[in-house]
Amino acid sequence: MIDLNAAGTGLGGYDLLAAQLEALLSGERDFIANAAQFSAFLYNQVDDLNWAGFYLNRDGELLLGPFQGQVACVRIPFGRGVCGAAAASLQTQRVEDVHAFPGHIACDSASNSELVIPLLKDGRLIGVLDLDSPKLARFGVEDQVGLERLAGIFLRATDC
Ligand code: SME
Repeated sequence: MIDLNAAGTGLGGYDLLAAQLEALLSGERDFIANAAQFSAFLYNQVDDLNWAGFYLNRDGELLLGPFQGQVACVRIPFGRGVCGAAAASLQTQRVEDVHAFPGHIACDSASNSELVIPLLKDGRLIGVLDLDSPKLARFGVEDQVGLERLAGIFLRATDC
């Protein structure tokens, strides 16, 4: 029996999560199905999250996609907030205190830190993966590396 509660912290945790995600997504390539599964997987297996999900690139604007957590803002222009910064720069945004981030969009007042990973397939921006936490500085460098790895598994397993 694998102790799932051990996952989500440290690189060992992300090795386990990577293997679990590969298994979860195997046999299905549909975008909505896999994005919904990935959101639920992250929300339930990664410690201290209050939101996990997708914003999708729709002609230079981010549109809410599959997610877990509180209801959220539906459309975010590129360049606005943490998600918009990730989409505009194509760089992961790891924010220790969202209240100190210029233009942060407070969808859920419980959020204090955030990690947003741009999702690129064959050079195209598909959207961003957004993770929010009520804990300040929830996401360290090892979380960024681990979660970017999981995002890569999702992209390879899914038709986008
Ligand atoms: N806080 C985000 C908006 C999305 S919600 O967190 C789900 C931002 O500033 O881009």
